[in-house]
Amino acid sequence: MSKITIQNIKELVGISQSGILLKKGAEMNQLSTIKNAFVIIENGLIESFGEMTDLTTIENDNSTVIDAKNKLVFPSWCDSHTHLVFAAPRDEEFVDRINGLTYEEIALKGGGILNSAEKLQETSEDDLYDSAMIRIREIIKLGTGAVEIKSGYGLTVEAELKMLRVIKRLKQNSPLTIKANFLGAHAIPKEYKADRNKYIELIINEIIPLIKSEGLAEYIDVFCETNYYTPEETDRILKAGIAIGLTPKIHVNQFTTIGGIQTGINNNALSVDHLEVVNKEDIEALKKSETMPTLLPSCSFFLGIPYAPAKELIDNNLPIALASDYNPGSTPSGNMNFVVSLACIKMKLTPEQAINAATINSAYAMGVSEKLGSIEIGKKANLFITKEINSYAFLPYSFGSNLIETVILNGEVQ
Ligand code: NIG
Ligand code: FE
Repeated sequence: MSKITIQNIKELVGISQSGILLKKGAEMNQLSTIKNAFVIIENGLIESFGEMTDLTTIENDNSTVIDAKNKLVFPSWCDSHTHLVFAAPRDEEFVDRINGLTYEEIALKGGGILNSAEKLQETSEDDLYDSAMIRIREIIKLGTGAVEIKSGYGLTVEAELKMLRVIKRLKQNSPLTIKANFLGAHAIPKEYKADRNKYIELIINEIIPLIKSEGLAEYIDVFCETNYYTPEETDRILKAGIAIGLTPKIHVNQFTTIGGIQTGINNNALSVDHLEVVNKEDIEALKKSETMPTLLPSCSFFLGIPYAPAKELIDNNLPIALASDYNPGSTPSGNMNFVVSLACIKMKLTPEQAINAATINSAYAMGVSEKLGSIEIGKKANLFITKEINSYAFLPYSFGSNLIETVILNGEVQ
């Protein structure tokens, strides 16, 4: 494997001490950097880094040298919540919403997740794989180095397994670090409306055992929300997943607060995601847990719903992670640069807080912060080099521009 030396880096951002797996409360305002820095990458890992004055001669050493004068180096974004395997976009619903329907109204009349499920059931595994791989290549260029991908647009035994097999193939064939999350309980399929329990039993007794035998997922998810799954149903489904070794990472508190956060925490969820609506009890429960609150500001932006109270969570000494929620209905974008911008502009996070939330904390929220999410010796060399920019705050400031020039994943320039 090749050796790469990146030298003359204007500022190396997001360095960390070994053993730090997340940052919470006031720690989120600390973003360690080195100005005029170098990084050496070997065998796919970060071998060393420091100030340029400490870089010993690189002559006669057959490494590739990249000059990063006036450029910054960041650890790759970790996107811990996406639904990027899907069959078709839903731009017709976008127009319906512009004309006055709400996201919930569209879902109740058979659009939304059920619309995506119908299309996915008819699409071949190969076609799903090809379209998802295009999205993967797109987010790599945008600086993402690790991504969690959910099922949940299948809603039948065959179609859920088809989605998870696509995710498995993406894992094998893409340089991204990928984790799979089984979201069979994303909506109640039309044919089970009169007997929802029958669908829950199908998930528990048929799909989950097949996931175990094919090794198709690391995580289990439920959309715990009014008109979707109750906290009691969520609890049952999570426990069935836990029994085969899956870890919960769930959708809660997007529109209403119905006790889903507590259900997640009681089942040791790695993360609880969305949290556009939270109350005092939710915050108290989070304070007693190791669960990562994960916020999805581009979903709020696209649907015009409230932004999660990021500042309030941090003021309560909690950590927060940021993710894209890339999906055809509520967030048709996997651009983590825009997520970081929105977190600063709309949630009033400082650039330091937003960058920590989209790197080390989002790595934690997908179970990879021992190997990813910061510049640390021995971590996987997933990082990006910016174009010539002013400062790390310039990245969220300059929203909508792609400021990433070079992407390195597993120590290889992409
Ligand atoms: O995280 N809220 C539930 N699931 C997705 C959206 C699904 C869809 O509309 O297709 C989300 O926003
Ligand atoms: Fe989601």
